[in-house]
Amino acid sequence: MAIEPAIQSATPGSFSGAALRADFPVFENLTRNGKRLVFLDAAASAPKPRAVIDAVADTYAHHYANVHRGIYELSEDATNRFEAARRKVAGFIGAPSDREIVFVRNATEAINLVAYSWGRANVKAGDLVVTTQLEHHANIVPWQQLTTEVGARLEYVAITDDGRLDPDDLRAKLAHGPKLVAVAQVSNALGTINPVAEITRLAHEAGALVLVDAAQSAPHMPVDVKQIGCDFLALSGHKMLGPSGIGALWARRELLEAMPPFQTGGSMIIRVTLEGAEWNEVPAKFEAGTPAIAEAVGLGAAIDYLNALGMDNVREHERFLFERAWQELGEIPGVRRLGPDDPEIHAGVISFVLDEIHPHDVATIFDHEGVAVRAGHHCAQPVMLRYDIPATTRASFYVYNDTDDVEALGGAIRAAQKLFGA
Ligand SMILES: Cc1ncc(COP(=O)(O)O)c(C=O)c1O
Repeated sequence: MAIEPAIQSATPGSFSGAALRADFPVFENLTRNGKRLVFLDAAASAPKPRAVIDAVADTYAHHYANVHRGIYELSEDATNRFEAARRKVAGFIGAPSDREIVFVRNATEAINLVAYSWGRANVKAGDLVVTTQLEHHANIVPWQQLTTEVGARLEYVAITDDGRLDPDDLRAKLAHGPKLVAVAQVSNALGTINPVAEITRLAHEAGALVLVDAAQSAPHMPVDVKQIGCDFLALSGHKMLGPSGIGALWARRELLEAMPPFQTGGSMIIRVTLEGAEWNEVPAKFEAGTPAIAEAVGLGAAIDYLNALGMDNVREHERFLFERAWQELGEIPGVRRLGPDDPEIHAGVISFVLDEIHPHDVATIFDHEGVAVRAGHHCAQPVMLRYDIPATTRASFYVYNDTDDVEALGGAIRAAQKLFGA
């Protein structure tokens, strides 16, 4: 199925976000107040273009059977489509081999897979695991569980006032010789783009392996595991225009081969006797049970869609919107923006707080204006603790956003302030 986004000439980049909305059926909906939907919550989960919806529906309608087992045409067809999706994921992140792509449910499961399989086999009592204060809970709690269970230590790299990882603190933590450094490429709560290639280089020098949480980066910028140099990388399909229920773990092949299985059962074995079982080759060893077949195909369609736009262009588009929005919010009194000022290291995610108005009230008033944002701790409570705030309001941009959405964001903030007399 050919994927042709509704590309039109754009202001700064190579496409117009407003024109792309035609590809996303959800934008045909009006809000309950009869307004245009201004969707600024891609960081939670992204809307789906028709190409992805059609790919999933077409798979269920005409190409669905279980994969890797049927000796009949329909099952071979389903298997081919499922494996083609794996190759697309590998290509999208520059993986040397599609055998290094393990399909999982989401980034959370990818990180848990590493924590349970690699972690339980390699992290021993007294060892150190390093993560950071700006992580999503998905990149904190699995390491807390692991280190508690085996009697290892867990340390967190501190965040600077402007939302960057503190390089001195990183060096200090690395000096203690961690086994693993687990870090997000982009913070979902602050929008910070972390220098993961540099962090990986330093971590490797210190003898650590590196897991990169790419849940917020893979959807929005070129990501290449060879360029980063990391050992594990986790992503979620639903944040990159794909279906929910499908994500991927990439890991270097020799690591996957040495790691014990995460879950066990069908598909992940080559032989089972009453005495025991022999594991299948990677990646099947880590894919126990029937996988999310149509969802994987849908993720492949999402990758086709993003590739047709060009990930450099996607990043450029969001950088432009970020700069506009950062400036717009900076000009409104009573708005405190979090995260770095520098657009080079700030993705299209803006977390902010309004003087004297709780983020939940902000989001409710925004909703009346047709503007969908996220309010809360964004599953990053340590970030909230760091800045001594209970929550933020977060606007996150994607390919279908445009400057009209930035204006709507500014308008919604002013409306909230007016209503609260702030
Ligand atoms: C940085 C980051 N990591 C991990 C996750 C977890 O993703 P999922 O809920 O798809 O597993 C998220 C989700 O918001 C995230 O923003």
